Amino acid sequence: MNTLSIIGAQWGDEGKGKITDALALKADAVVRFQGGDNAGHTIKFDGKKFALHLIPSGIFHNNTTPIMASGMVINPESLQEEMQMINDASYSTNHLVISDRAHVILDFHKTFDHLYESLKKEKIGTTAKGIGPTYSEKALRRGLRMHTFCNESGFKTYLEETLPAVNSILKTHGYDPYEIDDLIKKYAPMQKLLAPHLNDTSKLINDYIDEGKYVMFEGAQGTMLCLDHGTYPFVTSSSPSAAYVPLGAGIAPHKLSNVLGIVKAYTTRVGGGSFPSEITGDIAENIRIKGNEFGTTTARARRIGWLDVVALNHANRINGFSSLAIMLLDVLSGLKTLKICVGYKLDGKEIDYVPADNEHFKHIEPIYETLPGWSEDITNVKSFETLPLNAKNYLKRIETLTNIKISIFSVGPSRDETIYLMDPYQVRSIQYD
Ligand code: GDP
Ligand code: IMO
Ligand code: MG
Repeated sequence: MNTLSIIGAQWGDEGKGKITDALALKADAVVRFQGGDNAGHTIKFDGKKFALHLIPSGIFHNNTTPIMASGMVINPESLQEEMQMINDASYSTNHLVISDRAHVILDFHKTFDHLYESLKKEKIGTTAKGIGPTYSEKALRRGLRMHTFCNESGFKTYLEETLPAVNSILKTHGYDPYEIDDLIKKYAPMQKLLAPHLNDTSKLINDYIDEGKYVMFEGAQGTMLCLDHGTYPFVTSSSPSAAYVPLGAGIAPHKLSNVLGIVKAYTTRVGGGSFPSEITGDIAENIRIKGNEFGTTTARARRIGWLDVVALNHANRINGFSSLAIMLLDVLSGLKTLKICVGYKLDGKEIDYVPADNEHFKHIEPIYETLPGWSEDITNVKSFETLPLNAKNYLKRIETLTNIKISIFSVGPSRDETIYLMDPYQVRSIQYD
């Protein structure tokens, strides 16, 4: 099977968009299988820069089919804007395929996101895109799927059944109610725009795989934000892990082959919830500015920390990474020493796992290993051999601590600032062509 899953190994924003775009050159299809426009994937090539939230990062390659599969939650208004943005830049969106089974985010789901956050003492710090409320409605079996959204009478019936309950809750909390006619009028152009793109994406993806074509699965968020295996409740409402690819895309688990773990050379996190290797002060500020660590979706300043191998090994246990891509290595240039969190201490006792209880996670003391840094700018480096010795040693140390091979490292945001050590599609071969 020629499939490759691109999975965030930390708390999101690891550089999944950049790697997906770079590797999509070889892909026949790129599939988003979970999440929605809470994602912000940045792509840079030929001096152009794009931020994608919903559309798969393969959109800029003529021979690659971008597919939004059934595990996603899709805001039609955001999708309309994103399609327009891509068309304005002279790229086509005609070949975009959207699952008829994907769930739809409407305005009131976003209002609920706001309401639920306002009722929480300790905020999750969601992206306010309505992700949690939409997945909740899906689980309650009263959600809105794309095929119903794009059917005029089906959409009207859904609103007639749903809005009275929605409005009664909203009114209780002081929000304005929604009017059916306003919603019908607002969404009509989007139904027209999206209807021709709807298809059974499970069938389509299976056909691609069975024909021996290359299919990439582009994860959003990161494993530490996974609803099941992340730092609950400070997580998203879907599973950004490799295990969710088969479910979210509608393929059999045995059709998954290689899983590329995307890892920032340090750690960032946006929103609430602790992370043990978090740092503040000059080094954090230096990294934030150099790495442009401000949210692609919400523009919030990202929190900064050292690389956390305990969390990385937790992510590996869940995803079974076949190799790693180490991103933003250039951002660490100029730091005299680097730290890697190699263990946790909880109540004075050493542990090597991520505790389930958030109260425990809050009180973790990181155990650090210190490595010498490098002063050279590495943005023009084109091979492992030409990296400064201490940068080589940093990468080698990550391989040793995780027991996973690094197939890619990245020294800048652009497509061509990517160095391939192995083909992540076939991790045992030597060169990426
Ligand atoms: P994603 O959500 O995982 O796709 O990541 P984001 O796009 O939200 O955040 C990654 C940020 O790092 C973006 O601003 C990218 O342009 C940038 N980026 C990706 N790889 C590199 C790299 O190797 N070096 C530098 N300096 N920036 C990078
Ligand atoms: P990409 O794909 C980083 C975070 C939010 C919040 C938590 C829940 O760009 O890596 P949600 O809106 O999903 O209910 O928010 O998850 N979060 C992300 N953090 N990158 C993302 O996506 C994220 N998507 C959600 O900040 O803490
Ligand atoms: Mg992002």
